[in-house]
Amino acid sequence: MAKTIIIGAGGQIGTELTLTLRNTHGKEQIIAADIKTHAPPLIEDGPYVQMDILDRDSVRNYIIDHRVETVYLLAALLSATAEKNPDFAWKLNMDGLFTILDLAKEGYVKKIFWPSSIAVFGPTTPADQTPQHTIMEPSTVYGISKQAGERWCEYYYNKFGVDVRSIRYPGLISYKSPPGGGTTDYAVDIFYKAKASGKFTCFLSKDTALPMMFMDDAIRATIQLMDAPADRLRIRSAYNLGGISFTPEEIAASIRKQLPEFEITYEPDFRQAIADSWPNSINDSYAVSDWDWNLEFDLARMTHEMLKNIP
Ligand code: NAD
Ligand code: SER
Repeated sequence: MAKTIIIGAGGQIGTELTLTLRNTHGKEQIIAADIKTHAPPLIEDGPYVQMDILDRDSVRNYIIDHRVETVYLLAALLSATAEKNPDFAWKLNMDGLFTILDLAKEGYVKKIFWPSSIAVFGPTTPADQTPQHTIMEPSTVYGISKQAGERWCEYYYNKFGVDVRSIRYPGLISYKSPPGGGTTDYAVDIFYKAKASGKFTCFLSKDTALPMMFMDDAIRATIQLMDAPADRLRIRSAYNLGGISFTPEEIAASIRKQLPEFEITYEPDFRQAIADSWPNSINDSYAVSDWDWNLEFDLARMTHEMLKNIP
């Protein structure tokens, strides 16, 4: 059976994606790869390879030698970290993508998943129910890299028939693996602080609405898109995915329904400007009609799951 590799498997999405794909495809078929020396404990019971996506020759040799046909390329610097190191963020977020797109162009790789983000939108984008096709003038290096990546994915599909699929993920919320340096990370941290101390200081202002999604929904969306018949897919840049839109004040209120003493204060930092440039909510009608997308976790259900599972 053809093999699948997840590059960046040690991160927030990769850990859960690896777990889910191994449950459905069998452990030996799903290779986890990351620059980290060891796999996170949750996925250490299956194949793991230390890999630097920037080492183009090693990545090529590994994928060709092991007959890997499906690649999930998750290694990237996220928005807040990328703003601190723009040169490296551009290099990491773009060079790795070309390595994998070229392997597909040459016929070694048959299918690619590469995630985009709501960060492709910018301050001039309509902020409410942002449509699939709209003004996109991102103002962060992360957003610029994701927008460029989308253009290249579509180009490789149109010119070379590369089967590359992508989602503009909203901010992802999970308890199995920590987030890796994004602007939406507050919406994970808030649950840990609520459980540990009952207090949280938020780096965004109370009325900053952003699109978010519980990880179970995001993993289900990813697999649904990858399993969808190619002839149903109208979008080869990246699909909008809506999720749940809420402000820090609203997520705090949701937590207070279970932990009435919970307190939140606000100290916005440089991440406020990033959040202000992103949409409040997303229209995902293309995902609904092309691959039958439907959301399962609303704010109340997600809050319940997070508080139940965080010790
Ligand atoms: P993460 O930071 O948690 O994980 C990224 C993983 O990539 C880490 O384990 C890291 O060690 C690994 N990595 C870094 N440099 C590498 C290299 N040179 N070679 C191999 N591995 C390397 O990120 P995540 O949240 O899991 O995001 C995964 C992807 O999804 C990224 O492309 C990100 O832009 C995108 N995305 C994430 C979110 C979110 O909210 N988490 C939202 C939108 C898009
Ligand atoms: N959650 C991501 C971030 O904040 C969005 O891509 O960077």
